[in-house]
Amino acid sequence: MKTMTKEKTILGQPTADWKEEVVYQIYPKSFSDSNNDGIGDLKGITAKLDYLKELGVTMLWICPIFTSPMVDNGYDIADYQAIQPEFGTMADLEELIAAAKEKGMKIMLDLVVNHSSDEHEWFQKALADSQSPYRDYYIFKKGQAGNPPNNWRSIFGGSVWEPVANEADMYYFHTFDKKQPDLNWENPALRQEIYQMINWWLDKGIAGFRIDSITFIKKDQDYGDVPPDGSDGLGSVKVKTRNRPGIEKFLAELNQETFRQHDCVSVGEAPGVPYEQFDQYIGPDGYFNMIFDFHYADIDVENGSEWFRQTKWQPQDLKELMVKSQEAIQANGWGANFLENHDQPRSLSKYITDKNYQNAIGAKALGTLFFFLRGTPFIYQGQEIGMKNFQRTSLADFNDVSSIDNYHRSIQEGYTKEQALGFVNQRSRDNTRTPFQWDASATAGFSQTATPWMKLVGDQQEVNAADQVNHEQSVFHYYQQMIQLRNHSDYRNTLIYGQFQSLGADPAIIAYERIGQERIQVIVNLSNQPQHFDGAGELLLSNYPDTPASSEQWQLQPYQALVLRKEDHHE
Ligand code: NOJ
Repeated sequence: MKTMTKEKTILGQPTADWKEEVVYQIYPKSFSDSNNDGIGDLKGITAKLDYLKELGVTMLWICPIFTSPMVDNGYDIADYQAIQPEFGTMADLEELIAAAKEKGMKIMLDLVVNHSSDEHEWFQKALADSQSPYRDYYIFKKGQAGNPPNNWRSIFGGSVWEPVANEADMYYFHTFDKKQPDLNWENPALRQEIYQMINWWLDKGIAGFRIDSITFIKKDQDYGDVPPDGSDGLGSVKVKTRNRPGIEKFLAELNQETFRQHDCVSVGEAPGVPYEQFDQYIGPDGYFNMIFDFHYADIDVENGSEWFRQTKWQPQDLKELMVKSQEAIQANGWGANFLENHDQPRSLSKYITDKNYQNAIGAKALGTLFFFLRGTPFIYQGQEIGMKNFQRTSLADFNDVSSIDNYHRSIQEGYTKEQALGFVNQRSRDNTRTPFQWDASATAGFSQTATPWMKLVGDQQEVNAADQVNHEQSVFHYYQQMIQLRNHSDYRNTLIYGQFQSLGADPAIIAYERIGQERIQVIVNLSNQPQHFDGAGELLLSNYPDTPASSEQWQLQPYQALVLRKEDHHE
């Protein structure tokens, strides 16, 4: 049980362990394969703890490892309290938790409670007997004269309604894939089962949870049609199911019955929450400690929707969105900052528009940009060595359900096959799910000899961890330095707890400062042209060698990033 102690503050801000962590996200299937079956596993993670320790991260978020048919690589859970055999056993997980603890790292798991797998026992019982109490753990509805109950389009394509075999005109509801039926949060018995499961894990000694798709748990109970937004005659399910009125009751209860009872961290994946509601989510009595804000991660796709709806964004747009996000989070609570995750393309490929700089310079520039924002930084596996997107020439090379759906949706909307493949290559979630590149060998050191479950990007000769650990100028070393600066230098308090303030600069530059005992400025030229930045400062970090140790006028090279201590600040 949580004990009430007097709140400690730094720079007037309440302190918390979870504000000070540097989190590293692991996609277990693609991190490290210990038993040479081509699939990453828990023992593989344990074997790489020294690497993670050397990098300097303090907490690991491991994407779902629970029993699953793996249609959505584990985001379709068939048993919340057992481990998927290809990842190992419960003993392997316990060993990982203990070994990480010994090295000073905590483990956060992924909580997927908007939906389960259709292979979960509850759903199987619900299907087998329409009178079973488990029927009401899910959402079953009668159709309309041979048609589904409404025209909502699921996130992974097609209707959200799947016909129930052997029951005339009966459907079940799924926001995502048809093998991911939604749990019915209106049912108090279901909610209690979920809370018990969460508490069981927290009692087991994990540090907390990243909470998947949590803004989808409340559905508008009218289940009414939405205006169609595509030539399939359907409209996005989000309109009626994402962050809808009434969700506050479920989220407050979830928090009260679980997270609040433990000393743990809770990070909500909360797309669709407007800034005006951030207080409810991350304020002093918020549902979560922090949430991911997607407003700028989805800058390249209109409203983060279907991938053929591309935008033509400029650095200035990114700057505006980033500043708005930081200001909203700062006004209300704490954020979870990220450049990449398992649903996003690689940041080097997305944000660095000049291919000549999709290299160590670009990777370090982006790292600098996000890492010193106010909030807890989340590094996605491979980001710290500058891994990039792949280019695939055939749809058959994709595993991700959403990639396959987006390909077909693009064709349906009139794009050619080449264009459709282009959108998918650019945005595919598989871009960040390729095997981690440990070394330059044929399997990139991911498996010993087995063919990895997913094709490698193919550039492991140039981009791999073994080389980078040994090279002072590598992206890996730069990430080490950033972690050192944020967590272990004299500027720690300012970089963790200091205020965020945007700095005016040329439109191609994104610049901000963190204000505490001193002012630390972060200046990033997000263009392939030289730029100037005026301001007296002492250099703390730069992604170009031979940058002056101090100056009043900075000549920025293409994609140059600087971290400066401003010289004229006295408290
Ligand atoms: C968000 C997860 O990050 C994504 O990978 C998954 O497909 C959906 N939620 C459904 O669980």
